[in-house]
Order: sequence, then structure tokens, then C-alpha cells
Amino acid sequence: MTRDMTRSGEPLLRIDDVHVHYGRVIAVNGVDLTVSRGETLGLVGESGSGKSTLAMAILRLITPPGRIVSGRIHLNGVDILSTGGRQLRQLRWTDVSLIPQGSMNSLNPVMRIGDQIQDAIEAHDRRQTKDSLRQRVLSLLDMVRLPARVYGMYPHELSGGMKQRVCIAMAIALGPSLIIADEPTSALDVVVQKTVAETLLKVKEELNSSMILVGHDMALQAQLVDRIAVMYAGNIVEVAPVAELFSNPVHAYTRHLIASVPSITERKPLVVKEFQRPDLTTARPKPELREVSPGHLVALDDEHSDRRTSGEASEREEVIPRG
Ligand SMILES: Nc1ncnc2c1ncn2[C@@H]1O[C@H](COP(=O)(O)OP(=O)(O)OP(=O)(O)O)[C@@H](O)[C@H]1O
Ligand SMILES: [Mg+2]
Repeated sequence: MTRDMTRSGEPLLRIDDVHVHYGRVIAVNGVDLTVSRGETLGLVGESGSGKSTLAMAILRLITPPGRIVSGRIHLNGVDILSTGGRQLRQLRWTDVSLIPQGSMNSLNPVMRIGDQIQDAIEAHDRRQTKDSLRQRVLSLLDMVRLPARVYGMYPHELSGGMKQRVCIAMAIALGPSLIIADEPTSALDVVVQKTVAETLLKVKEELNSSMILVGHDMALQAQLVDRIAVMYAGNIVEVAPVAELFSNPVHAYTRHLIASVPSITERKPLVVKEFQRPDLTTARPKPELREVSPGHLVALDDEHSDRRTSGEASEREEVIPRG
């Protein structure tokens, strides 16, 4: 459950006005966001809205032509953007870990699962004996609900859901305070999606971590997260506690996202057809977020926002989409 930010002091993660460009493409256009201790934040938006870019910026994994142009990111009080070398390597995995988009397909095909997880641990923590390392891997497998025999298996012997569980095991190996999972279930069958997502949430609770769950499956998000941040064209356009977002979505884009929950057979990246794909190479103002109810922030200066207060939001069908 969400913990009150004011009670625990500083949020675990604070992102202030972060801008990320790939050459002329403005992928992240001044994002402000916080994640509290113990919180699960959903980050949603259609394909190309900048979710993965923002996720990678938090770990400073943006590579050329990408560049974090400006902004500040604090995790556990550490200023990530001015940290370098060893401290940054240490911070990744031990403080924050990423389950990258599509990671289950990038497991090493010729290496046994147990060895891959061991390598991941050893890259960050070399103090362990062979025996304790093996025990550690077995307990990680158990945590993600995989049988011990997976230790000696190769990726091709595992189902998609099992491979994704292996990726989760690697990401939690060093007990990070923040887990960022980038579309961890979108390549999986619907039934498997739910069980893998539940495992992810369970390990997050066991580790007492916080989590950012990137995705576009609003139905899944509704069941898993405490708060949702909606991204459109590199900006957060609405953020609210999950129940509030679903009952009183204010921004037109959020309402279209909720309305376009993909069918259970849908495998394509999400595109909200009512919205024109924005030209990300054009400089655009960062929308100002205003609080419409406690903890519910919306880009009200934006042409798509519904200025009515949330209580009046029920008859809001006349959204004139752009384009
Ligand atoms: N390495 C790169 N080089 C150039 N442009 C990039 C690169 N990576 C991402 N982009 C561009 O940045 C924008 C944001 O991409 P990003 O991958 O962050 O979106 P996303 O919200 O994660 O999308 P998806 O839902 O498809 O994963 C897109 O316009 C994309 O084309
Ligand atoms: Mg992505």
C-alpha cells in the first residue's frame, strides 16, 4: 500500500524536470514525478510516449544518440545525475534495478539459468562463497515461484512466463529499494501475465521495495498499482491514485487510454487512434500540472484537459480529438 510521503519524509525517488533527447527527438520533455517508499507506481502511455526512456534515465542507461539534457533525479537522497563510476555501478542493482523491456528474450541461450543469475550477483557482490551463492540463487528461484530444477536448465527449455520469472529473480538479487519493470508481461499470454505480475508484486512486498510498473494494459494496472502516471508525448499529463484515476479521469488522453484497453488477444503496441501521433521533434511547452483533488494532478493548461472538476466529470463524452 502507498505510504504517506509526509510521514516518511522525502520520497524514495524524486524526478525533477527531466529532459531526454535523441538527437532532434524530444522523448522526455520535462518530467516531474515522485515514488514513495513501498509504493507501486504505474507508468502508462502509448507506444513512443517516452516510458522506457524515462525508466532508463533513472538508471542513467541512456546511450548516444540519447542524452539526458537537464533535470535532477534523487534516489534515496543520492543525486543520480551527478554520480559517476563505481558509485553509479553500485547504485544500479543494489538501490535500483531494471527489468528491461523484452529482457526475457535476451537471456544467454548457451548458459544455464543458475549460472546466469550467479553471474549477475557476482558482478555486484564478490564476497560470496560458491556454496552460499548457489543457496542464494535457489532461494531467489523459490521467491519467484520457480522449481529448483530450473537452476540447471537452459532458456530454451523454459516457457515465456518462466523466463520472465528468471529476469525478475535477477533484478531482485541484491534487494533493491526500487524495482523498475518495463512491460514485464506484455509478451506473455493473458493468464500467465496475471500470475507473473502477481509474483512481481509479491516479491516487491517481501523486499519492502517500491516499484515502477511500466505498461499499457490498464486492466492489469488497475489491479496492481497504487498510483498511475499517464505519459503522452514525453510528458506526464495526469497522475492520481488508481481508484481516483479510473473513476474520475480528467485528461482526454487518459480517458481514451481507459477506453482503449486492448482486447485479450491484442499483441500490438498500444496506439490511441483518436490522438494524432505528436511530432516529437518540435519543441513544445511542458504542461503545467494542477491538483484537482488530493493527489490528483492534471495538465489543465493543455488543450485536451477537461476543466470540469472531478465531481462533474460523468457527462464528458464530447471530447474532440485532435487531428
Ligand atoms: N535509441 C533511440 N534512438 C532514437 N530515438 C529513440 C531511441 N529510443 C527511443 N527513441 C524515440 O524516443 C521516443 C520514446 O521512445 P520510448 O522507447 O521511450 O517509448 P515507450 O513509451 O517506451 O514506447 P513502447 O510502448 O513502444 O515501449 C520514440 O519516439 C522513440 O522513437
Ligand atoms: Mg518502452
